[in-house]
Amino acid sequence: MSELSRRGVFLDEIGLGPLWLRRDGGLPEAEPIDADATPQQAFAPAIEIPVAESPVEAEAVVQAQSVPLNNAAVSAWGDDDAPVTSPVTTTTVLPAAMDWRQLQKAVAGCTACGLCRGRKNTVFGVGDNKAKWLFIGEGPGRNEDIQGEPFVGPAGKLLDNILLAMGLKRGENAYIANIVKCRPTDGTGRDRPPAADEVAACLPYLQRQIELIQPTILVALGKTAALSLLGLDPATPVSKLRGTVHRYADRPLVVTYHPAYLLRQLADKGKVWSDLCLAMSTYANVDR
Ligand code: URA
Repeated sequence: MSELSRRGVFLDEIGLGPLWLRRDGGLPEAEPIDADATPQQAFAPAIEIPVAESPVEAEAVVQAQSVPLNNAAVSAWGDDDAPVTSPVTTTTVLPAAMDWRQLQKAVAGCTACGLCRGRKNTVFGVGDNKAKWLFIGEGPGRNEDIQGEPFVGPAGKLLDNILLAMGLKRGENAYIANIVKCRPTDGTGRDRPPAADEVAACLPYLQRQIELIQPTILVALGKTAALSLLGLDPATPVSKLRGTVHRYADRPLVVTYHPAYLLRQLADKGKVWSDLCLAMSTYANVDR
């Protein structure tokens, strides 16, 4: 099959050959993330989140203190009469030391930045915990906030089609996550890219997800994902990052346009196809 017809098959597969139109004839509802949306590149030291109450979790303890239960009552009763109480151990575990359960719990209760105030749900990520492919977007939008799952809106439908065309499937050898776990909105309630401090607060969770998953390859979907992971100048456009195999945490990382951008800029679908070809050939050549 020629390159041209393979490309045609791919574009048909992902639902972009020739055009995705709504039944009313309009373009699909675009999500407010564009290829050159506000970049983020801040990296903060890992945050500390109290999560552990049981001795089992003490293995992952970074910092722990023992506090006797009801101190005041104990001293008032005097030593002899004091009831035997077991100490309550407050354990603080850094994301970098968390297992999956701890990480999910920490994200679900996270208040590390202001995004927690507006969220309906945190959006942890979805897929195969041992996936070889990790796709990383920007942050939840309205649909994701409601459902608690990444990429469930129109851009998500396109991403699912892209995965299928690559021989992948949500939940099978692919994991989908975002740079931030809570939906960023502006003053009028519209989606916006996450701010630098929000990225910095959230990134330790994604970093831990990557360590736990151990993916073979990462695909950064759009500018926020690419710049946040690569720590590049906020002015860097996605176009400059495409076509190169970058490295993140000693793994190959390929940058492509965000599916929401692609829905608005159908002319760039061929570029996404070539980015994914680069990702697939890189994956095929990784020593495993
Ligand atoms: N856009 C993203 O970057 N992530 C989502 O989960 C949904 C839309």
